[in-house]
Amino acid sequence: MALARRYGTPLYVVDEMAVRNACRAHRREFESRYPRVRILYASKALMTKAIAMIVAEEGLSLDVCSGGELYTALSAGCPPDRIYFHGNSKTLSEIDFALSAGICRFVVDNMDELRLIDLLANAKGLVADVILRLTPGIEAHTHEYIKTGQIDSKFGIAIPNGDALRAVKYAKELRNVKLTGLHCHVGSQIFETEPFLHAIEVMMDFAREACDATGFIMEELDIGGGLGVRYTGGDDPLSVADLAEAIAPALLKAAEERCLPLPTLLMEPGRAIVGEAGTTLYTVNAVKHIEGVRTYVTVDGGMADNPRVALYQAEYDAVLANKADRPPTCEVSIAGNCCESGDMLAWDIALPDVEVGDILAIFCTGAYNYSMASNYNRHLRPAMALVKDGWSDLIVERETYEDHVRKDVVPDRLKSSHRSAAVSAESAMLVYPRASGANASE
Ligand code: LLP
Repeated sequence: MALARRYGTPLYVVDEMAVRNACRAHRREFESRYPRVRILYASKALMTKAIAMIVAEEGLSLDVCSGGELYTALSAGCPPDRIYFHGNSKTLSEIDFALSAGICRFVVDNMDELRLIDLLANAKGLVADVILRLTPGIEAHTHEYIKTGQIDSKFGIAIPNGDALRAVKYAKELRNVKLTGLHCHVGSQIFETEPFLHAIEVMMDFAREACDATGFIMEELDIGGGLGVRYTGGDDPLSVADLAEAIAPALLKAAEERCLPLPTLLMEPGRAIVGEAGTTLYTVNAVKHIEGVRTYVTVDGGMADNPRVALYQAEYDAVLANKADRPPTCEVSIAGNCCESGDMLAWDIALPDVEVGDILAIFCTGAYNYSMASNYNRHLRPAMALVKDGWSDLIVERETYEDHVRKDVVPDRLKSSHRSAAVSAESAMLVYPRASGANASE
């Protein structure tokens, strides 16, 4: 409540200790079971300078997948030698940027990228360390849109059809590229150990085959991210300890059975680091009861700040923050503020009597909410507050209407005919000068 009053709504709230504890759990559980481990935070889940600083402070490395994420990591002071550059469609300028920054590894998605990295590294007189992203041909039981391990995927180089072996041979021929390891990521929001274990078997078989065929020694094996989190009471995710307990012995055994040296184990959790640390606060703007049909509770945010319900049929738990001690009395569906019927935040959830002005808190919104937010309908992207020990700090400012028009350019030929419209826009600003759009009671 105090946060909603102080910063306005919608508001992303991130619990700093929850992020730190998740980082620590990953390091503790894996490092205690395997000799050489690097935990990379998959920053696509949530990237801001403050978040990058926290995970770096906790000793994690960073998986970035665009020039924008790389820039944020560097501006936050993350050491380049702990940055891994992913992405299936890197541009020339992104590769150039990453080479100049001296990042740790390129996680290479295809042959064209390999060729380009070699070319650009050559021009700079560098040798780039690379890991090849492979598709092991594994189907994880998760939503169709977040499966990535199968052969028919836009990501990675396929193992079963021989492409992966050709890529290893090619990488070994290149003078300005050093192939250090292999990568796979089977999917996201995974609740079982089985796909990870299967991936280890397939990747270690391939490492043996590639060693026999080319002499390639896999120094590191990156098995991606994907550990599921608890969005609702019905979810029963694995703990980090469960995952480490399954993966570490499996990899030790797989290396021994294939007479391969132990690779460094790389893991790339995103959602499992920040997902449960996030809560979004909204203000209720309307309650519409359609007798015998449904009650819609409309809030001041929606698919623009959380597109996951519309995209993946994601489910969330929610409470009324100002009535948290009251028992549920009704079943309602939470509707967003975008001009789109699919813009819903939750279906059929139990809440106490909802009234206009109540503050709705939706849990587990730390991952893939802010990072996937848009300005659809020209809604403003919310602010983000970081909370710790009863304190709060703003880590992302709320956008303003001025931000919306800052990058708009009006060609000269339109200016004269629209002068009068511009004048009326100016007078509108006089009437409503703050133009922040936030629902704040301060
Ligand atoms: N590594 C790679 C190569 C990835 O592609 C991803 C996620 C991760 C690591 C981190 O996965 P995580 O631990 O967060 O599951 N927008 C979707 C999720 C897309 C995941 C993309 N890749 C969602 O909201 O569920």
